[in-house]
Amino acid sequence: MGTSGLALGCLFFVVASESAQQFELKNVNQLAEAKKFQKIVIRDLQVPAGVTLDLSNLKPGTTVEFAGRITFGYKEWKGPLVKVTGKQLTIMAHSYARFDGEGHRWWKGGRESKLVKPRFFEAIVDDSTIRGLYFKNPPAPCFLCNWCHNTAISKITVDAKDAGDGRAGVAFNTDGISLGYVKNITVRDSYVFNQDDCFVTGAGEDMLVENLTCEGGNGIGVGSLGKGAEVRRLTIRNSKIINNLVGLDIKTELNAVGALRDVTFENIEMKDIRQFGITIHGNEGPTYPTGEPTYFAIENLTVRNVRGNMVGSGGANVWIWLHPNSAKNWRWENVNVQGGKSGMFRPPLQCKGIPSNMRIPCAEK
Ligand SMILES: *[C@@H]1O[C@H](CO)[C@@H](O)[C@H](O)[C@H]1NC(C)=O
Ligand SMILES: *[C@@H]1O[C@H](CO)[C@@H](O)[C@H](O)[C@H]1NC(C)=O
Ligand SMILES: *[C@@H]1O[C@H](CO)[C@@H](O)[C@H](O)[C@H]1NC(C)=O
Repeated sequence: MGTSGLALGCLFFVVASESAQQFELKNVNQLAEAKKFQKIVIRDLQVPAGVTLDLSNLKPGTTVEFAGRITFGYKEWKGPLVKVTGKQLTIMAHSYARFDGEGHRWWKGGRESKLVKPRFFEAIVDDSTIRGLYFKNPPAPCFLCNWCHNTAISKITVDAKDAGDGRAGVAFNTDGISLGYVKNITVRDSYVFNQDDCFVTGAGEDMLVENLTCEGGNGIGVGSLGKGAEVRRLTIRNSKIINNLVGLDIKTELNAVGALRDVTFENIEMKDIRQFGITIHGNEGPTYPTGEPTYFAIENLTVRNVRGNMVGSGGANVWIWLHPNSAKNWRWENVNVQGGKSGMFRPPLQCKGIPSNMRIPCAEK
């Protein structure tokens, strides 16, 4: 009797101390107080217009749990609507939780719109886990992890279906998942339906993207941000690109200084791509091609088991136009993109810079 009473006492003590470590955020004015706790729960929050849900400088080891519907007031501004910074964080959401950007308020006017639109979610984190975040109707670029290190990202959903696919020209500039200047990042089991790049990186090392499904948007973009930025050791595998403008879009701007090294695309399934199945070009510009590409190293590129079809015959299955010295040590194995007859391009596409020992069919008629 005496011992069981003691055990019960201990149990109560544990429960009480755990709940004391948890803070339920009811409005953004409580953020400073919330950041003193090891666990912050954010449920059904309305964030006022022009205010960032500012989860920056969280204590190491903090868990943030999202539940319910998180909404944001309308303002023309650059955002971000949510910002998270810190180390050893766990950022997670319950399966029914939604960040609802109500992007239609900014989308009107589509490509022609001059409205300033907020970025949605920005993380700058180390040694952290981010999982299960569901973003509905992003006003503009959605999920960004820049300067992130040693972080596992999974089960991210970007859902701009309400805007239709890219042909509707509504949710312009809604990049899905962006990584920049990162090191050792995985992105797994994620889904993007948007109207711009599905996944994009322009700088970083040791990135693995696996089981990503892209619908509606402009494909998977790998480029360089220039100014010496390199993409090194990037692997994108076991992923699907469906009803996108482009499948794999590997590009650099004219005169960009930087490099892409050890980049692998493996087991990629594409379906109903409209413009380019795979393009690798060194002359990206506002309207491309913009002239002879300048030198830019694309070394140790592997494209393996990439299959798919173009919808309509106007697009190009594969198009490569690089400076003659750019491509080194490429592997191109079991690539089969079909249906494109390159009819939509005036002037016709030129294929240049393909390593001379490789037979890569380019801009087939
Ligand atoms: C890479 O990040 C993971 C967490 O996603 C971590 O477990 C691992 O130790 C990191 N690797 C290195 C070499 O730091
Ligand atoms: C791939 O990701 C989707 C989410 O987009 C998930 O439902 C599915 O279970 C994942 N597949 C595997 C094999 O993990
Ligand atoms: C080429 O890239 C692959 C995959 O990232 C890597 O395993 C290999 O070491 C690289 N080879 C060279 C010669 O850099």
